[in-house]
Amino acid sequence: MTRITGKTRILFILGDPVAHIIGSSLLNEHFAERSIDAAVSPLHVAPGDLPRAIDMLRRLHNVAGFGVTIPHKIAVIPLLDSVGERGRQVGAVNFVRCNPDGTLHGDNIDGLGFAGGLVAASVTIRGARVLQAGAGGAGRAIAFAMAEAGAADLTIANRSPDKARELAEAVSHAYPSCRTRAGNGDPAACDIAINTTSLGMKSGDALPMPTDQLPEGAVAAEVVMTPEVTPFLAAAAARGCRTVGGKAMLLAQLRAASDLVGLA
Ligand SMILES: NC(=O)c1ccc[n+]([C@@H]2O[C@H](COP(=O)([O-])OP(=O)(O)OC[C@H]3O[C@@H](n4cnc5c(N)ncnc54)[C@H](OP(=O)(O)O)[C@@H]3O)[C@@H](O)[C@H]2O)c1
Repeated sequence: MTRITGKTRILFILGDPVAHIIGSSLLNEHFAERSIDAAVSPLHVAPGDLPRAIDMLRRLHNVAGFGVTIPHKIAVIPLLDSVGERGRQVGAVNFVRCNPDGTLHGDNIDGLGFAGGLVAASVTIRGARVLQAGAGGAGRAIAFAMAEAGAADLTIANRSPDKARELAEAVSHAYPSCRTRAGNGDPAACDIAINTTSLGMKSGDALPMPTDQLPEGAVAAEVVMTPEVTPFLAAAAARGCRTVGGKAMLLAQLRAASDLVGLA
């Protein structure tokens, strides 16, 4: 257990509900392993109380920053003083730095986390052909992150095709060098296949994309953390693909969060 003193930098994770939050515990372990004098706790904030909570946090001098989770990721944006490029692209913020002058800077680190998890698993994104299922919150962040990391080609498939089209257009506009389109794509012609949907969390969920055509040398990567081996990863592994589970994204986000608040 971290020894918390008056010198300890304090962080929170704001959500409603908070019972499921494990990021605070992982961040505490991350800080303890690196001998960083910081401690994190979930903070249960109802939507109607968010403006008051944010106003209070900016006045507290030993608060280094805070994570933001459901349902606050979009609502927090107008309450901040500045938002980074990734947060603006995604349209949602999930981590905020409290600056010494009381200003608050937020950004979205989901995509950095996902790309960081791939890199930690020695996956090369630059030049890759990526097939992504999903265009929700995590999907938006990951699509921009794949293009930013130099993917050559990105196909986005989503149950609601309008969201995939809108996302593909936004990514194309921001990163013209990545050929981005919406559609079902061809699993046989991809190097990295990504599930960014919530499919796989519940038993009996459909697969996020057909896996029977995935090439043996492809990488299959996942956002879902529980179960650790989703049916998508199991099916891809059975075809001889390398797999990267959802926990890799979370672990890489710990580094990105400490970087953002200056506690790396
Ligand atoms: N590993 C990590 O660190 C990490 C971080 C963030 C999120 N996540 C996980 O990522 C997943 C998605 O989260 P999110 O915040 O992006 O959620 P979200 O914004 O609600 O998006 C959900 C996505 O899943 C699709 N989807 C949901 N049910 C479906 C179904 N029955 N059939 C086909 N598609 C379906 C949605 O399609 P429509 O657009 O058609 O609704 C959308 O693309 C969750 O499992 C979450 O726990 C993991």
